Amino acid sequence: MKKLTAIIVGAGHRALLYAEYALVKPDELEIVGVAEPDSTKRAHAANVHKIPQERCFTTAEELSRVPKFADFVINGTMDKLHVPTSVPLLKAGYDILLEKPFATDKNEMRHLVKTAQKLKRRIAICHVLRYAPFYAGIKQRILAGDIGDIMNIQTTENVSYHHVAAAFIRGKWGTKKYGGSSFLMAKCCHDLDLITWLKSGIHPSRVASMGSRMFFIPEKAPVGSGMHCLTDCPKEVEAACLYSARKHYVDHNWWPFYVWDFNDKFKDQTLPSSEERIRRLSDPANPYGRCVWKTDGDIIDHQSVVIEFADGATATHNLVSGASKSERNIQIIGTKGEIRGAFESGKFTIVRMDPRPGHEHAEEVVDTNISGDFSGLSGAHGGGDARLIADFVRVMRGEQPSFSYTGIEDSVYGHITGFLADEAMAKRTEMTIPRI
Ligand SMILES: NC(=O)c1ccc[n+]([C@@H]2O[C@H](COP(=O)([O-])OP(=O)(O)OC[C@H]3O[C@@H](n4cnc5c(N)ncnc54)[C@H](O)[C@@H]3O)[C@@H](O)[C@H]2O)c1
Repeated sequence: MKKLTAIIVGAGHRALLYAEYALVKPDELEIVGVAEPDSTKRAHAANVHKIPQERCFTTAEELSRVPKFADFVINGTMDKLHVPTSVPLLKAGYDILLEKPFATDKNEMRHLVKTAQKLKRRIAICHVLRYAPFYAGIKQRILAGDIGDIMNIQTTENVSYHHVAAAFIRGKWGTKKYGGSSFLMAKCCHDLDLITWLKSGIHPSRVASMGSRMFFIPEKAPVGSGMHCLTDCPKEVEAACLYSARKHYVDHNWWPFYVWDFNDKFKDQTLPSSEERIRRLSDPANPYGRCVWKTDGDIIDHQSVVIEFADGATATHNLVSGASKSERNIQIIGTKGEIRGAFESGKFTIVRMDPRPGHEHAEEVVDTNISGDFSGLSGAHGGGDARLIADFVRVMRGEQPSFSYTGIEDSVYGHITGFLADEAMAKRTEMTIPRI
């Protein structure tokens, strides 16, 4: 078996997770370089993967200026850097495993697709949910014809109150200017990808969308609240608040890789103590100490999307933040039956018509056993992360891709549907989705 080599571009949370494959399957993959502006993260990655100094670079651009020295690049930079960092790397000869959303608007999207096609380079997009046994199992049943032709798909993503606060309201996707993406694209380009993948081969032709920021606004803040939970918010108001930074990041240790830039892949890194966390959150410059109703955020907090396909089928996706519990739900109604399930449960149910006397319908529960570990990697995204990198390595070795494989050409319809949904929402109209 040919051993492959890869370079980490953006030694943050996501890229290091995929790079872990090299540690658990050293006979298949070796990380031989890193490009990362943050010197601490760069040194950590170099240390973990034993990368020599001469193969450590400060940026993707710097890396692209030296002759190609690996089979591919893992690009885990932030959304708005995906295209600017990938184009020079494609030109330098690299194939790329690229995080989603792979572009921030439709022009960038077309530019990247065309550049990859022109240079004949491979880009795979990290749509990890396609690989999760839950969604892969559903796709298998659809391909097998179990529910006939799909008439309607309904998906929802409920983003929990602590997740939305850390990543989107106080966090790095809080403003489009900083994060690069709308809330829909940052959070749900996966769901739009799943919808278009489940309907593979059928063109999504129209999209409409509505949504707004209705809750995380100053008018909805508790009476008498301050600007920062640990500095100027009265004790009794903070004590009663569901979004208190102290409750989320000191009493709980929620989202440490965002709040403390803590990466558990770095064995020599430790989490700050409670005292240190309180000290840091008391700094008015710390975005994670802000009152969730009084940030500079400009993303919406809920959105509904309606899609029509060329064969007349329809789909809806609902993104709602501030839920008590994170959950992705799906219901697919076909001409012969239905599939429904909650991703987090790892189980889906196939419901079939049964008109025999004394019957009406029959249910078959499929348990995908998402807790099942895979090749030593963590089971993140319902097992999707580990399976995605394993499949990409196989494809790069020249083997057949799995049916979950998300080449960039195959990811464009999910992305364009999202970009146009946001445009439709802003213009209060519906948009025609072009063929690409
Ligand atoms: N597939 C998924 O399910 C999933 C889940 C979460 C996040 N994401 C996506 O993954 C991406 C990365 O997210 P993250 O939380 O790991 O980000 P991160 O901030 O932890 O890592 C990004 C890294 O890129 C570095 N960087 C900045 N400029 C650079 C340059 N010019 N060259 C090289 N490196 C540079 C930053 O210093 C940082 O360390 C985002 O686009 C995000 O939307 C995907």
